[in-house]
Amino acid sequence: MNHRPMLVTCGLPYTNGCCHLGHLRTYVPADFYVRFLRRSGEDVVFICGSDNHGTPIVVSAENEHMHPRELSLRYHRHFEETFQRLSVNFDYFGMTDGETNHRRTKAIVQNLIDHGYVYKKIIQQSYCPKCERSLPDRYVEGVCPYCGVPARGDECDQGCGRHLEPGEIKSACCSVCGTPAVLREQEHYFFKLSDFKDFLLSYLPKLEGTLIARNYALGWVKEGLHDWCITRTLDWGVKFPGHEDLVVYVWVDAPIGYISFTEEWAVQHGKDWKTCWCGDIAPVTHFIGSDIIYHHTIFWPSMLRGAGYGVPSAIVASGMLKINDQKFSKSRGYVVWANEDYLDKGLSADYLRYYLLAYTSHTRELNFSWKIFQERVNNEVVGTLGNFIYRTLYFAQKFFGKIPEHPVDEEILSRIQQSVGGMEDAVRSYEFKSAVDTMMSLAAFGNTYIQNQAPWQIIKTDRTAAERVIRNCLQIVHALAILIEPVMPDSAQRIWLMLGNIDQVHEHLVREVSTLPAFQNLPLPVPPFTKMEDDQIIELEKVLEKRVEEADRKVKGKEEVSMDEFGRLDIRIGKVISAIQVKGSKKLLTLKIDVGGDERQVVSGIAEYYSPEEIIGKEVAVVLNLMPVKIFGVESQGMLLAAGEQASLLVPLHPVEPGTKVR
Ligand code: 2FM
Ligand code: ZN
Repeated sequence: MNHRPMLVTCGLPYTNGCCHLGHLRTYVPADFYVRFLRRSGEDVVFICGSDNHGTPIVVSAENEHMHPRELSLRYHRHFEETFQRLSVNFDYFGMTDGETNHRRTKAIVQNLIDHGYVYKKIIQQSYCPKCERSLPDRYVEGVCPYCGVPARGDECDQGCGRHLEPGEIKSACCSVCGTPAVLREQEHYFFKLSDFKDFLLSYLPKLEGTLIARNYALGWVKEGLHDWCITRTLDWGVKFPGHEDLVVYVWVDAPIGYISFTEEWAVQHGKDWKTCWCGDIAPVTHFIGSDIIYHHTIFWPSMLRGAGYGVPSAIVASGMLKINDQKFSKSRGYVVWANEDYLDKGLSADYLRYYLLAYTSHTRELNFSWKIFQERVNNEVVGTLGNFIYRTLYFAQKFFGKIPEHPVDEEILSRIQQSVGGMEDAVRSYEFKSAVDTMMSLAAFGNTYIQNQAPWQIIKTDRTAAERVIRNCLQIVHALAILIEPVMPDSAQRIWLMLGNIDQVHEHLVREVSTLPAFQNLPLPVPPFTKMEDDQIIELEKVLEKRVEEADRKVKGKEEVSMDEFGRLDIRIGKVISAIQVKGSKKLLTLKIDVGGDERQVVSGIAEYYSPEEIIGKEVAVVLNLMPVKIFGVESQGMLLAAGEQASLLVPLHPVEPGTKVR
């Protein structure tokens, strides 16, 4: 087989909102991993793109009165720019709505059909009688049938994290208008996931990456696999072969994006994408958030296997994010935006990268706080790393003006090699925090060494001895510049130039840590890092506090109604002129109501409690300025007010004229 580069991918962000720290928890470690492998001489292709289909996008586009394509393009560009600002450098950043992905998805689905892995079945699908449409995925909200926690149509996002199949959610309501959903029969297509049990049981134990991904996945397979509905009644998406009214479920075409983007990258660079995706096990590592482990360890490998592609060799799942001890939540205000809150204020992308990699293992939950962010940056980056580098460069430049020609002590070289070995082992076991800690302990070693040797004292009596010490320190700075490049690329380059180099640090390999040309002239150094000041942190904390307060107010605002808002409801007393049963429904009556010179048709669910004869002539309270809706195909131009299980109608105590306003 041809040379196979390693392919590293990141979960594709949905194009319905801005980039936040939750996203970066995956992208920064992945970028670190890729950079480190490249510094170790590996050939790596780093691929990502945006996820444009599915109900998350359609619902957001509807709210913003935009076409999903327009919304997708807007956020696609946003993510691309944000990643550049953070030095997360993908080789290719595609779109799942691109032509390649439509074509590849249709080909893979057709392949699965041809291999007998797809069948059709009639299912009960949630339907909104008011909006008169099917409610796939995020169009429906309700309660998880497994853990009883509020959930979305396709996912128990706040509880047990399970994937939910259409029709499974309990107490389903339309997420657009809040109307209780009814079930309707519809024909859909299913993928025979259950056929892949044996394959998964032999594949998963060998799957590399983080333990959490492998263990969860094995648990789910042992619990039992359910076939998976892969079509949706939507306009936006990749059409299911042979059906103009159906698109494939977004979790079919989104991961196929990984292949399509590899293909697009390969075309641009004259390479062969197949080397990455063929063979039994493909040299592919997926970096994902832990909320999408199921999709990447169960659905995706089964789909690839069924369609004859190679399956990923590693899945690296990062832990979820908490903010100030609170579960990350956009609606509750617990969100830190990458641009608005941080980069736009001129703050360092490298500090954020350092914090995300070094604070806790990226596989664990991260509790973000600006205070801790400040402490870590000031103590470690500025205090340890920056201090050692600046002391060394300042002294060397001041007394020697260049890198002195003096051999480096064996002890120093072996200390550097020990760090490199430790970092390599840690990176290859996906322990990125430990890799960064190993690099920082070399800086701490340098600090102790320079402090104990005190070259500023020795130079007063023995210039050669001082030269030896500073040469050792410069070797450590040189090694650090190469080793911190994957963590803080911009800072590494600045330090590299302060060592008198004129090229790019990322062109150098980790094995070059022990080389440093002698006699290189040293420019006047500046401190490589500056502290995060208290007032900056206070300002950042205030932004977050304000956001949480505003979100709270919005929630309360939803619960409390102002007098003005109440006054906007046009509730009047009307007299029922006629009442007939709605065809095909036991519960509904169509009423004609005299509301004072005007006649309204109202469809009301009271047929089980009132006969038409009983209600004709009664005075009832009607809301008149609701938007008309069709119920069972009959237009309803208002709503009767009634209370309790038996729909007891609200009526005036004393007779009033039809059309009298209720206040
Ligand atoms: O959960 C999400 O944000 C999805 N957009 C991730 C898709 S990853 C992949 F499979 F495409
Ligand atoms: Zn649940």
